[in-house]
Amino acid sequence: DGFSALKLFSQGYSYTYDDVIFLPHYIDFPTDAVSLSTRLSRNVSLSIPCVASPMDTVSEAHMAAAMAALGGIAIVHSNCTSSQQASIVRSAKSLRLPIAPSSIVFASPDDSLPSVSHGKYVFVTESGELPSKLLGYVATSDCENLKGKEVKIFDYMRDCKSVEYVPWNYDLGKIEAILEEKKSDFVVLERDGEVVNVVIKEDVERLKGYPKLGAGTVGSDGEWMVGAAIGTRESDKERLEHLVKAGANVVVLDSSQGNSIYQIEMIKYIKKSYPQLDVIGGNVVTISQAQNLIQAGVDGLRVGMGSGSICTTQEVCAVGRGQATAVYKVSSIAAQHGVPVIADGGISNSGHIVKALVLGASTVMMGSFLAGSTEAPGAYEYKNGQRIKKYRGMGSLEAMAKGSDQRYLGDTAKLKIAQGVVGAVADKGSVLKFIPYTIQAVKQGFQDLGASSLPSAHELLRSGTLRLEVRTGAAQVEGGVHGLVSYEKKSF
Ligand code: XMP
Repeated sequence: DGFSALKLFSQGYSYTYDDVIFLPHYIDFPTDAVSLSTRLSRNVSLSIPCVASPMDTVSEAHMAAAMAALGGIAIVHSNCTSSQQASIVRSAKSLRLPIAPSSIVFASPDDSLPSVSHGKYVFVTESGELPSKLLGYVATSDCENLKGKEVKIFDYMRDCKSVEYVPWNYDLGKIEAILEEKKSDFVVLERDGEVVNVVIKEDVERLKGYPKLGAGTVGSDGEWMVGAAIGTRESDKERLEHLVKAGANVVVLDSSQGNSIYQIEMIKYIKKSYPQLDVIGGNVVTISQAQNLIQAGVDGLRVGMGSGSICTTQEVCAVGRGQATAVYKVSSIAAQHGVPVIADGGISNSGHIVKALVLGASTVMMGSFLAGSTEAPGAYEYKNGQRIKKYRGMGSLEAMAKGSDQRYLGDTAKLKIAQGVVGAVADKGSVLKFIPYTIQAVKQGFQDLGASSLPSAHELLRSGTLRLEVRTGAAQVEGGVHGLVSYEKKSF
């Protein structure tokens, strides 16, 4: 009944996740017996197969800390100076308690109040970012009468005399006790004389309501593991040095077409200069692209071209591949060399994650799925009554204006061509809440397939025990909600 993956993916079609469906297999274990522990790359282990994309509307410090706390990892984007990127890595590693403050803002003393006054407090640091030295804070409730006026924050801030400082690695229980004892609304977390986070009472309550966190992804330094993206220019060698000093645990060569002489030379350089550091190459979608990078020495492969929600590469350049086919093909060769595969882009539900993992990937990399969360960079806005956050492609004109065009090897071109768009996604709440639910749904999918782990799923697929079919357009409609006048889309 159905087809083996080998047969289904050898017929000349480029299939997306939605095109294919698994036939159910045999269940002989409970959902909780499913383990999704995996590897990001040869030497980096994760307890959940989730990776945050190196995009400037997805992965900065709070996302990186939260993903690591969940047992996944984030790759910090490189659309900023190397010292800013290194500072994001350092900051992520210092966010032991992975709380992204929901109603406070950080600003520099030169900022004007109206431009940052959304939220309950404005914390003023020397650099306007974290980590940095705390200069004071503004309670926005004090400034009601200043609404609309352009005043410097510096002139209105309270000093730090009454501020409660606690060490950066205090856990939730200790922070809660201090807030209670001092009758304070917030505490400032400090490391080496710099503020690394501010935790307010309502965020402590919020975190307590989320599923319990496990040990998380911790490196040999005892801190969160954090990945970082770089390019393949000469200047990226210096960037890498900064990142390694800041504690980056793995590096991703960020390119839409990774099978290039530039990337191969960079892989060789990194493997020679930093033998302890895992390097992930890509992106690739074919067996021969993958073979080249494996030969150059990569520790992981990132798969996907044009499958991302904000991507226009396939339309602009006529190059790419359906993501289900790409993941299956690249994984089949990578597995022979022990190189883990990251299925990058095109994930919009837990079923897509099941498909990516069973088709051979070891992890999924997500942009839009994580954008719009409390942990994603940027402030929420309102559009037609909906709370939204910006989400943009790194190949959009807006992102490339900040330097990300090297991802498309366009740094020598005089005319810039967009390969992505700028958009927005709905508020999704905290990743600390919705990722555990998503993982539970993925485990149920594995159970339906009789696979209790990633290696067992891969073996069932390789041996032809797992069977698949292509869904017709009508079958895809039938597989979604249909025939209702209205319904509420709520999964947990
Ligand atoms: P999702 O579907 O998770 O995709 O939102 C995220 C992935 O998309 C890639 N990416 C781009 N691809 N133009 C592209 O063709 C772009 O501007 C762009 N920005 C990001 C990237 O691989 C990311 O992980």
